[in-house]
Amino acid sequence: MDLEDIEIHLLLEGIYLHYGYDFRQYAPSSLKRRILDFARLEAVDGISLLQARLLRDPACFERFVLALTVNVTAMFRDPPFYIAFRRRVVPLLRTYPFIRIWHAGCSTGEEVYSLAILLKEEGIYDRCRIYATDINEAVLRRARSGIYPLKMVEAYESNYAGARGKGVLSDYYTEKYESAILRASLRENILFSQHNLASDGSFNEFNVILCRNVLIYFNKALQDRVHELFYGSLCMFGILCLGSKETLKLSPRESDYEELAGGERMYRRTA
Ligand SMILES: C[S@@+](CC[C@H](N)C(=O)[O-])C[C@H]1O[C@@H](n2cnc3c(N)ncnc32)[C@H](O)[C@@H]1O
Repeated sequence: MDLEDIEIHLLLEGIYLHYGYDFRQYAPSSLKRRILDFARLEAVDGISLLQARLLRDPACFERFVLALTVNVTAMFRDPPFYIAFRRRVVPLLRTYPFIRIWHAGCSTGEEVYSLAILLKEEGIYDRCRIYATDINEAVLRRARSGIYPLKMVEAYESNYAGARGKGVLSDYYTEKYESAILRASLRENILFSQHNLASDGSFNEFNVILCRNVLIYFNKALQDRVHELFYGSLCMFGILCLGSKETLKLSPRESDYEELAGGERMYRRTA
């Protein structure tokens, strides 16, 4: 192990002991690059000095969490996913009187509001309670606000059309100066809160869990932990939705699910 890797190892142990945040099983090469970038950004000379600062300065630690995690997201990201969700998952959900949904790793919330729009258009939003979680308090604050730069939201119009939205996206926001303010009715049944997939446990039983574009940043052991968590948090015949580059294949829970047709990484718990 070279010296820098030892320092990173100690840094991650220290953070885990002090803050309870476990980054020890994140994919190592991108983790190292992000830590070094963060040290440069904070003008700290070396990982050991960074460790001292992070352990004593919670504000610096919040910036660190933000720098370490990739928060890229979009409304109606991967439009075919939403077409498949309407076709394959919504008919199953219609059979339930009450529907619990968990968005794990929701980032700034665009994906959660996209699903809320879809559920409204399908007439089942009122029956849903959506729990949207992320490790990162800073992105959750933005998600709760439901306010996004207008230019960005306007650019999502083509995603929405590609996802076979039933109206126009502008039906769901009002414009104020350079911002798009999402309709408060979209937020009514959404609860945003902090949850760490690397260390926290199950907190409810869900009919649907969406965790898209999160597991790619974890190593295999952490991915397996999270699959165990999702399995324990899904009711029988519940649906798990992963990102387009993620799969249940080779996870210890693979045989407990069947894949819904369409290749959109949607799985139904069958055991
Ligand atoms: C690339 S974004 C994906 C956002 C959204 N799911 C999507 O597909 O557009 C990854 C998110 O996972 C979150 N994340 C990373 N590690 C996490 C952990 N241990 N527990 C919960 N969320 C985590 C990050 O903060 C980030 O917001």
